[in-house]
Amino acid sequence: MQIGLIGCGNMARALARGWARPVLCADPLAERAKALAQETGGEALSSNAEVAKRADVVVLCHKPAQLRGVAEEVAPHAKAVASILAATPLPALKAAYPDRPVYRFMPSLPVEVRQGALVQAADAPQVAEVDKAVHELFAELGTLVTLPDAQVDVAMGLMSCGPAYVALVAEAQVDAGVRHGIAAAQAAALVTQTLAGTAELLRRRDYDTLAVRREVASPGGLTARGLDALEQGGLRGAFSDAMDAVLRPAP
Ligand SMILES: NC(=O)c1ccc[n+]([C@@H]2O[C@H](COP(=O)([O-])OP(=O)(O)OC[C@H]3O[C@@H](n4cnc5c(N)ncnc54)[C@H](OP(=O)(O)O)[C@@H]3O)[C@@H](O)[C@H]2O)c1
Repeated sequence: MQIGLIGCGNMARALARGWARPVLCADPLAERAKALAQETGGEALSSNAEVAKRADVVVLCHKPAQLRGVAEEVAPHAKAVASILAATPLPALKAAYPDRPVYRFMPSLPVEVRQGALVQAADAPQVAEVDKAVHELFAELGTLVTLPDAQVDVAMGLMSCGPAYVALVAEAQVDAGVRHGIAAAQAAALVTQTLAGTAELLRRRDYDTLAVRREVASPGGLTARGLDALEQGGLRGAFSDAMDAVLRPAP
Protein backbone atom coordinates (compact mmCIF):
# COMPACT_ATOMS: atom_id res chain seq x y z
CA MET A 1 0.00 0.00 0.00
CA GLN A 2 1.63 3.28 -1.14
CA ILE A 3 1.54 5.89 1.63
CA GLY A 4 1.22 9.60 0.80
CA LEU A 5 1.92 12.17 3.52
CA ILE A 6 0.34 15.62 3.37
CA GLY A 7 2.64 17.76 5.51
CA CYS A 8 6.14 16.70 6.59
CA GLY A 9 6.36 18.00 10.15
CA ASN A 10 7.07 16.22 13.41
CA MET A 11 4.34 13.59 13.33
CA ALA A 12 4.72 12.84 9.62
CA ARG A 13 8.42 12.19 10.25
CA ALA A 14 7.68 9.94 13.24
CA LEU A 15 5.11 7.94 11.24
CA ALA A 16 7.43 7.61 8.25
CA ARG A 17 10.31 6.42 10.42
CA GLY A 18 8.02 3.90 12.09
CA TRP A 19 6.73 2.56 8.78
CA ALA A 20 10.29 2.42 7.44
CA ARG A 21 9.21 2.25 3.82
CA PRO A 22 9.35 4.75 0.94
CA VAL A 23 6.68 7.45 1.21
CA LEU A 24 5.35 10.06 -1.19
CA CYS A 25 5.11 13.44 0.50
CA ALA A 26 4.51 17.16 0.09
CA ASP A 27 4.97 20.18 2.33
CA PRO A 28 4.87 23.96 1.78
CA LEU A 29 8.60 23.88 2.53
CA ALA A 30 10.00 21.83 -0.36
CA GLU A 31 13.27 21.19 1.51
CA ARG A 32 11.35 19.59 4.39
CA ALA A 33 9.55 17.23 2.03
CA LYS A 34 12.80 16.43 0.23
CA ALA A 35 14.55 15.54 3.48
CA LEU A 36 11.78 13.17 4.54
CA ALA A 37 11.58 11.56 1.12
CA GLN A 38 15.34 11.06 1.10
CA GLU A 39 15.29 9.50 4.56
CA THR A 40 12.64 6.95 3.55
CA GLY A 41 13.84 6.34 -0.01
CA GLY A 42 10.57 7.86 -1.23
CA GLU A 43 9.69 10.87 -3.34
CA ALA A 44 8.88 14.50 -2.55
CA LEU A 45 6.18 15.78 -4.89
CA SER A 46 5.41 19.34 -5.89
CA SER A 47 1.80 19.43 -4.65
CA ASN A 48 -0.68 17.76 -2.33
CA ALA A 49 -2.74 16.85 -5.40
CA GLU A 50 0.22 14.92 -6.89
CA VAL A 51 0.57 12.95 -3.66
CA ALA A 52 -3.16 12.16 -3.67
CA LYS A 53 -3.04 10.97 -7.30
CA ARG A 54 -0.23 8.48 -6.67
CA ALA A 55 -0.93 7.23 -3.13
CA ASP A 56 -3.21 4.36 -2.12
CA VAL A 57 -3.83 6.12 1.17
CA VAL A 58 -3.30 9.78 1.92
CA VAL A 59 -2.33 10.51 5.53
CA LEU A 60 -3.28 14.03 6.60
CA CYS A 61 -0.34 15.32 8.69
CA HIS A 62 -1.02 19.06 8.45
CA LYS A 63 -2.65 21.18 11.19
CA PRO A 64 -6.41 20.94 11.83
CA ALA A 65 -7.03 24.52 10.65
CA GLN A 66 -5.85 23.53 7.16
CA LEU A 67 -8.49 20.80 6.70
CA ARG A 68 -10.68 22.65 4.17
CA GLY A 69 -7.86 24.15 2.12
CA VAL A 70 -6.00 20.83 1.83
CA ALA A 71 -9.21 18.94 1.01
CA GLU A 72 -9.81 21.22 -1.99
CA GLU A 73 -6.52 19.96 -3.47
CA VAL A 74 -6.60 16.37 -2.24
CA ALA A 75 -10.24 15.23 -2.27
CA PRO A 76 -10.68 15.10 -6.06
CA HIS A 77 -7.84 12.53 -6.35
CA ALA A 78 -7.56 10.59 -3.07
CA LYS A 79 -8.45 6.88 -3.05
CA ALA A 80 -8.58 6.70 0.76
CA VAL A 81 -7.85 9.24 3.49
CA ALA A 82 -6.47 8.70 7.01
CA SER A 83 -6.42 11.70 9.32
CA ILE A 84 -4.32 12.23 12.42
CA LEU A 85 -5.65 15.75 13.02
CA ALA A 86 -6.43 16.62 16.63
CA ALA A 87 -9.90 17.92 17.47
CA THR A 88 -11.28 16.96 14.06
CA PRO A 89 -14.04 14.35 14.42
CA LEU A 90 -15.12 11.88 11.76
CA PRO A 91 -18.17 13.87 10.54
CA ALA A 92 -15.94 16.87 9.78
CA LEU A 93 -13.47 14.62 7.92
CA LYS A 94 -16.24 12.95 5.92
CA ALA A 95 -17.72 16.32 5.01
CA ALA A 96 -14.33 17.41 3.68
CA TYR A 97 -13.72 14.09 1.90
CA PRO A 98 -17.09 12.77 0.68
CA ASP A 99 -17.51 9.56 -1.33
CA ARG A 100 -14.32 7.75 -0.36
CA PRO A 101 -13.11 5.75 2.64
CA VAL A 102 -12.07 8.10 5.47
CA TYR A 103 -10.38 6.98 8.72
CA ARG A 104 -9.50 8.83 11.90
CA PHE A 105 -6.42 7.90 13.91
CA MET A 106 -4.61 9.51 16.82
CA PRO A 107 -0.92 8.61 17.01
CA SER A 108 1.80 9.44 19.53
CA LEU A 109 5.45 10.29 18.97
CA PRO A 110 6.83 6.82 19.91
CA VAL A 111 5.33 5.49 16.65
CA GLU A 112 8.79 6.44 15.43
CA VAL A 113 10.19 3.42 17.29
CA ARG A 114 7.05 1.31 16.67
CA GLN A 115 6.07 1.64 20.33
CA GLY A 116 3.34 4.18 19.89
CA ALA A 117 -0.01 4.28 21.61
CA LEU A 118 -2.56 4.79 18.82
CA VAL A 119 -6.30 5.20 18.69
CA GLN A 120 -8.66 4.61 15.79
CA ALA A 121 -12.13 6.14 15.80
CA ALA A 122 -14.76 3.40 15.50
CA ASP A 123 -16.87 3.68 12.37
CA ALA A 124 -19.25 1.71 10.18
CA PRO A 125 -17.50 -0.56 7.64
CA GLN A 126 -16.59 1.24 4.41
CA VAL A 127 -14.59 -0.74 1.83
CA ALA A 128 -13.64 -4.00 3.56
CA GLU A 129 -10.19 -4.53 2.02
CA VAL A 130 -9.22 -0.85 2.45
CA ASP A 131 -10.54 -0.82 6.05
CA LYS A 132 -8.33 -3.81 6.83
CA ALA A 133 -5.23 -2.53 5.05
CA VAL A 134 -5.36 0.92 6.66
CA HIS A 135 -6.03 -0.52 10.12
CA GLU A 136 -3.09 -2.91 9.75
CA LEU A 137 -0.84 -0.10 8.52
CA PHE A 138 -1.33 1.90 11.74
CA ALA A 139 -1.34 -1.22 13.92
CA GLU A 140 2.28 -1.80 12.79
CA LEU A 141 3.31 1.22 14.84
CA GLY A 142 2.46 0.07 18.35
CA THR A 143 -0.67 -0.61 20.40
CA LEU A 144 -3.78 0.42 18.45
CA VAL A 145 -7.02 0.80 20.42
CA THR A 146 -10.42 1.48 18.81
CA LEU A 147 -12.62 4.01 20.64
CA PRO A 148 -15.83 5.89 19.87
CA ASP A 149 -15.10 9.02 17.84
CA ALA A 150 -16.24 11.22 20.77
CA GLN A 151 -13.49 9.75 23.00
CA VAL A 152 -10.59 10.20 20.60
CA ASP A 153 -9.70 13.68 21.82
CA VAL A 154 -9.79 12.52 25.46
CA ALA A 155 -7.44 9.71 24.50
CA MET A 156 -5.27 12.29 22.75
CA GLY A 157 -4.98 14.09 26.11
CA LEU A 158 -3.50 10.87 27.50
CA MET A 159 -1.33 9.36 24.80
CA SER A 160 -0.59 11.99 22.16
CA CYS A 161 0.26 14.65 24.76
CA GLY A 162 1.69 11.92 27.00
CA PRO A 163 5.23 11.71 25.61
CA ALA A 164 5.70 15.42 26.41
CA TYR A 165 4.35 14.90 29.94
CA VAL A 166 6.52 11.86 30.52
CA ALA A 167 9.57 13.72 29.19
CA LEU A 168 8.84 16.55 31.63
CA VAL A 169 8.48 14.12 34.53
CA ALA A 170 11.77 12.46 33.54
CA GLU A 171 13.48 15.83 33.33
CA ALA A 172 12.19 16.82 36.79
CA GLN A 173 13.51 13.56 38.26
CA VAL A 174 16.89 13.93 36.59
CA ASP A 175 17.14 17.49 37.92
CA ALA A 176 16.37 16.23 41.44
CA GLY A 177 19.19 13.67 41.11
CA VAL A 178 21.60 16.27 39.76
CA ARG A 179 20.74 18.58 42.67
CA HIS A 180 21.96 15.79 44.96
CA GLY A 181 25.19 15.19 43.08
CA ILE A 182 24.51 12.50 40.41
CA ALA A 183 25.87 13.30 36.93
CA ALA A 184 23.06 14.24 34.51
CA ALA A 185 23.84 11.45 32.03
CA GLN A 186 23.82 8.78 34.73
CA ALA A 187 20.63 10.17 36.28
CA ALA A 188 19.00 10.20 32.82
CA ALA A 189 19.99 6.57 32.17
CA LEU A 190 18.54 5.49 35.52
CA VAL A 191 15.30 7.45 35.12
CA THR A 192 14.74 6.33 31.52
CA GLN A 193 15.24 2.67 32.42
CA THR A 194 12.89 3.10 35.37
CA LEU A 195 10.19 4.41 33.01
CA ALA A 196 10.71 1.59 30.51
CA GLY A 197 10.92 -1.12 33.17
CA THR A 198 7.86 0.10 35.04
CA ALA A 199 5.88 0.27 31.79
CA GLU A 200 6.73 -3.36 31.07
CA LEU A 201 5.92 -4.40 34.65
CA LEU A 202 2.53 -2.67 34.51
CA ARG A 203 1.77 -4.31 31.15
CA ARG A 204 2.54 -7.77 32.55
CA ARG A 205 0.51 -7.08 35.67
CA ASP A 206 -2.64 -5.95 33.92
CA TYR A 207 -1.93 -2.26 34.56
CA ASP A 208 -2.34 -2.72 38.34
CA THR A 209 -0.66 0.54 39.40
CA LEU A 210 -1.71 0.22 43.03
CA ALA A 211 -0.03 -3.19 43.41
CA VAL A 212 3.22 -1.84 41.99
CA ARG A 213 3.11 1.18 44.28
CA ARG A 214 2.42 -0.99 47.34
CA GLU A 215 5.36 -3.28 46.53
CA VAL A 216 7.75 -0.34 46.38
CA ALA A 217 6.34 1.72 49.22
CA SER A 218 6.66 -0.19 52.48
CA PRO A 219 4.62 1.20 55.38
CA GLY A 220 6.34 4.20 56.94
CA GLY A 221 9.19 3.81 54.44
CA LEU A 222 11.11 6.20 52.23
CA THR A 223 9.01 5.79 49.06
CA ALA A 224 5.83 6.39 51.07
CA ARG A 225 7.34 9.70 52.11
CA GLY A 226 8.24 10.53 48.52
CA LEU A 227 4.74 9.63 47.29
CA ASP A 228 3.22 11.80 49.99
CA ALA A 229 5.38 14.73 48.89
CA LEU A 230 4.19 14.23 45.27
CA GLU A 231 0.54 14.14 46.37
CA GLN A 232 1.06 17.25 48.53
CA GLY A 233 2.64 18.87 45.50
CA GLY A 234 -0.58 18.34 43.57
CA LEU A 235 0.54 15.69 41.05
CA ARG A 236 -2.94 14.19 40.53
CA GLY A 237 -4.61 17.58 40.29
CA ALA A 238 -1.98 18.76 37.83
CA PHE A 239 -2.67 15.84 35.45
CA SER A 240 -6.41 16.41 35.78
CA ASP A 241 -5.93 20.13 35.01
CA ALA A 242 -3.75 19.21 32.03
CA MET A 243 -6.58 17.11 30.55
CA ASP A 244 -9.08 19.94 31.07
CA ALA A 245 -6.68 22.37 29.39
CA VAL A 246 -6.24 20.06 26.38
CA LEU A 247 -9.99 19.61 25.92
CA ARG A 248 -10.85 23.30 26.38
CA PRO A 249 -11.91 24.83 23.03
CA ALA A 250 -9.23 27.06 21.53
CA PRO A 251 -9.84 30.78 22.27
N1 LIG B 1 3.00 16.14 17.30
C1 LIG B 1 2.28 15.21 17.90
O1 LIG B 1 2.74 14.58 18.87
C2 LIG B 1 0.90 14.85 17.39
C3 LIG B 1 0.21 13.78 17.98
C4 LIG B 1 -1.05 13.43 17.48
C5 LIG B 1 -1.61 14.13 16.42
N2 LIG B 1 -0.93 15.18 15.89
C6 LIG B 1 -1.54 15.90 14.77
O2 LIG B 1 -0.65 15.78 13.69
C7 LIG B 1 -0.74 16.93 12.85
C8 LIG B 1 0.64 17.48 12.60
O3 LIG B 1 1.21 17.84 13.84
P1 LIG B 1 2.77 18.12 13.93
O4 LIG B 1 3.08 18.21 15.37
O5 LIG B 1 3.53 17.19 13.06
O6 LIG B 1 2.82 19.60 13.31
P2 LIG B 1 3.99 20.27 12.44
O7 LIG B 1 5.30 19.77 12.89
O8 LIG B 1 3.71 21.74 12.45
O9 LIG B 1 3.71 19.69 10.98
C9 LIG B 1 2.69 20.15 10.16
C10 LIG B 1 3.26 20.27 8.75
O10 LIG B 1 2.22 20.53 7.82
C11 LIG B 1 2.69 21.53 6.93
N3 LIG B 1 1.61 22.20 6.24
C12 LIG B 1 1.03 23.41 6.47
N4 LIG B 1 0.11 23.70 5.54
C13 LIG B 1 0.09 22.66 4.68
C14 LIG B 1 -0.63 22.38 3.49
N5 LIG B 1 -1.55 23.24 3.03
N6 LIG B 1 -0.37 21.23 2.85
C15 LIG B 1 0.58 20.36 3.31
N7 LIG B 1 1.28 20.58 4.43
C16 LIG B 1 1.05 21.71 5.12
C17 LIG B 1 3.46 22.45 7.85
O11 LIG B 1 4.25 23.36 7.12
P3 LIG B 1 4.50 24.85 7.74
O12 LIG B 1 5.18 24.63 9.06
O13 LIG B 1 5.37 25.50 6.72
O14 LIG B 1 3.15 25.48 7.91
C18 LIG B 1 4.26 21.44 8.65
O15 LIG B 1 5.43 21.02 7.97
C19 LIG B 1 -1.66 17.92 13.57
O16 LIG B 1 -2.93 17.93 12.96
C20 LIG B 1 -1.76 17.39 14.99
O17 LIG B 1 -3.02 17.63 15.56
C21 LIG B 1 0.31 15.54 16.33
